[in-house]
Amino acid sequence: MIKGDFPLQEFGSLRTPFYYYDLGLLRRTLQRALAEAGKSPLYRLHYAVKANFNPVILREIASAGLGADCVSGGEVRAALDAGFKPGDIVFAGVGKSDWEIKLGLEAGIGRFNVESPEELRVISELACEAGVKAPVSIRVNPDIGAHTHANITTGLSENKFGVNYELLDDVLREAMALPGIEYRGLHFHIGSQITDMADFKALCNRINYLAGHLDRAGLPLGDINVGGGLGIEYEHPNHLPIADFATYFEVFRNHLQLPEGTVVHFEPGRSIVAPCGTLICRVLYVKQGTTRQFAIIDGSMTELIRPALYHAYHRIENLSSSEDEDIYDVVGPVCESSDVFGKAVSLDRCHRGDFIAVRSAGAYGESMASRYNLHELPEAYFATPRCRAAL
Ligand code: LLP
Repeated sequence: MIKGDFPLQEFGSLRTPFYYYDLGLLRRTLQRALAEAGKSPLYRLHYAVKANFNPVILREIASAGLGADCVSGGEVRAALDAGFKPGDIVFAGVGKSDWEIKLGLEAGIGRFNVESPEELRVISELACEAGVKAPVSIRVNPDIGAHTHANITTGLSENKFGVNYELLDDVLREAMALPGIEYRGLHFHIGSQITDMADFKALCNRINYLAGHLDRAGLPLGDINVGGGLGIEYEHPNHLPIADFATYFEVFRNHLQLPEGTVVHFEPGRSIVAPCGTLICRVLYVKQGTTRQFAIIDGSMTELIRPALYHAYHRIENLSSSEDEDIYDVVGPVCESSDVFGKAVSLDRCHRGDFIAVRSAGAYGESMASRYNLHELPEAYFATPRCRAAL
């Protein structure tokens, strides 16, 4: 969405900060992702609900036909409410509580992605009590680094996720022996905001190695879930508003060597929803500090924690002004020095009341919002393709 497309007239009556979602872009993104994945008939998409669980967004994604990737009982409920088919829901997480496992069993979800033998035994017990068998994939820690922020890399042996790939045989044998478990496949996820396709190639190589190894050991492979992680272009949201799904799926097509008929699952989160969301804020004060000029806005780390938590970059634009640019540290009102959206940001000259857009905030924005400093949780509004703003 370019600067002139934001309906500032309508924004005037709304309490800022709020999230503004471009549903047209979301739909185009979903179509592109499905078209590129669909070039391989056995590729299946499960949207990672953690990226954004706004019910309107979830319903759009469910009606496009994706499955859901959940990491808590709350997310499983939200996915069911939004209309995702139970059989298309996969459930990961290192610490599933008993009630969450029971919820998944009762709903008949498609897969538990299990992260330890300890968890496997509990799921088996609860499934036996319920008189069912739990469909299970084993999450493997492939010990592969992703070139992304340390807080969002997950596939190294030092991370808490998954079963060490060298111990896979034992865990797989136990899964097959447990009465409440039906072994179905392997699950991986190496990290998030990955833009270097070499990381995904390395994952494919590890999967190929494991597939060969299991074959030689006479153990079943089942299907493969490669997780999520495809990064987006935060620097230039208008130039590349849709993630490069073509290159991404091509990497797996070219590098995965699996027995014919193997289904491959993907769990994209960020690449589906990040570009379509903008955090709309207003300038409260332009403050002259001793060495810097601050644009103090009413949005903060409580609505969008990514810059504070990961030093993440989001493009910031002044929607109200087209005066000459000036340099600002764009900061929020929260009592933390880390409550900074950007340092030395070049913005069209700011005045009190100007609307500020913090772009590409559709993933891990609203879903990670908090009430710190007793801020209200942000509202969300939607621009639909036919009528520009449905406020
Ligand atoms: N599958 C699993 C098992 C995951 O843990 C994740 C993300 C995904 C899929 C989706 O990954 P995506 O396609 O969105 O990269 N809050 C951080 C990101 C944390 C990602 C956690 N896991 C951020 O704001 O950058």
